[in-house]
Amino acid sequence: MPAHALSSLFDVRLPLIQAPMAGSQGAALALAVCAAGGLGSLPAAMLTPEALQAELQRLRSQAAGPWNVNFFCHTPPVPDAAAEARWRAALRPFYDEAGIDPTKVPAGAGRVPFSHTMADVLEPFAPPVVSFHFGLPAPDLLARVKSWSSRVLSSATTVEEAQWLQAHGADAVIAQGLEAGGHRGMFLTDALGTQLGTLALVPQIVAAVQVPVIAAGGIADAAGVRAAMALGAAGVQVGTAYLCCPEATTSAVHRAALHSAAARHTELTTLFSGRPARGIVNRLMETLGPLNPAAPAFPLATAAVAPLRAHFEALGRGDCSPLWSGQNASGCQNRPAADITAALAEGFSDRAG
Ligand SMILES: Cc1cc2nc3c(=O)[nH]c(=O)nc-3n(C[C@H](O)[C@H](O)[C@H](O)COP(=O)(O)O)c2cc1C
Repeated sequence: MPAHALSSLFDVRLPLIQAPMAGSQGAALALAVCAAGGLGSLPAAMLTPEALQAELQRLRSQAAGPWNVNFFCHTPPVPDAAAEARWRAALRPFYDEAGIDPTKVPAGAGRVPFSHTMADVLEPFAPPVVSFHFGLPAPDLLARVKSWSSRVLSSATTVEEAQWLQAHGADAVIAQGLEAGGHRGMFLTDALGTQLGTLALVPQIVAAVQVPVIAAGGIADAAGVRAAMALGAAGVQVGTAYLCCPEATTSAVHRAALHSAAARHTELTTLFSGRPARGIVNRLMETLGPLNPAAPAFPLATAAVAPLRAHFEALGRGDCSPLWSGQNASGCQNRPAADITAALAEGFSDRAG
């Protein structure tokens, strides 16, 4: 096994990060990947401080090596009653079909950005790695994280974002190609036309920054890992391929969609949160259009869709569920995370092809 900059930066055996996936996993998946030699990640964007504390206790007491905890760092929008009303009007046919009264559906955020409250929970654990999506937190918050000697990562979707992250203190940059499942980490631009595929993005970021670059998006097997490393990546971050592991909490409808032919058609959509994220096309996306302008600002779109999602999931259907997936779901298998990790790790061996 060749030495990789990332392995020494994080002190892990494999330069492989299991992508944090809010809503689809907790500490169990992270622990399984850590035990298999990778860097397991805990997504915290949808956790209360109490739930985060409990998950961190599990990680600290059971993790075989270092681990990562992940936060969003968006600026919460000011709630806008008119925008919320427009959104509920757009969803009206679905409410009618489901027999739901939209006036009884509570509004709310669902995802909270990193804050001093969350930092208070983190501090006693001094996480080995803290990763962020949508940029970096404010300088005072980032300084707190760095004071614990935690390594700091964040996602870049353009060369400019990678340079910005390096200039503002990231120890490594995750180059998130357009193939990636879940939310685009974009934070310097809203223009989807700026977004590059992994094959184009990774070498351009490698050429533009000095910090290690981690390739993400569409990597599902050892050949994908080899391709990313050939492009100059110091390691990889893999999400979708772990979604059907028994250690993930992915719902039954989501697992079924990942295993079906439907997984071949993903799109970027704002319907489930307000920010573009990649998921398998379903009835809500087909009916409203995946980028319908009625969806309110992130993360306010989520609350109005939540009861519709629950209604159809109870019927065994993902019509209104965020079926997050990258463009390459071919790595999704009902196998333990250790097996998925071992298969991906073949890509780090010196063996050709
Ligand atoms: C179900 C799902 C949820 C995700 N949630 C998060 C998250 O909470 N935080 C984050 O930084 N990235 C999140 N991502 C994006 C991943 O970090 C990563 O960019 C992506 O999974 C890589 O592409 P792949 O899915 O093709 O492997 C998520 C991805 C998926 C598939």
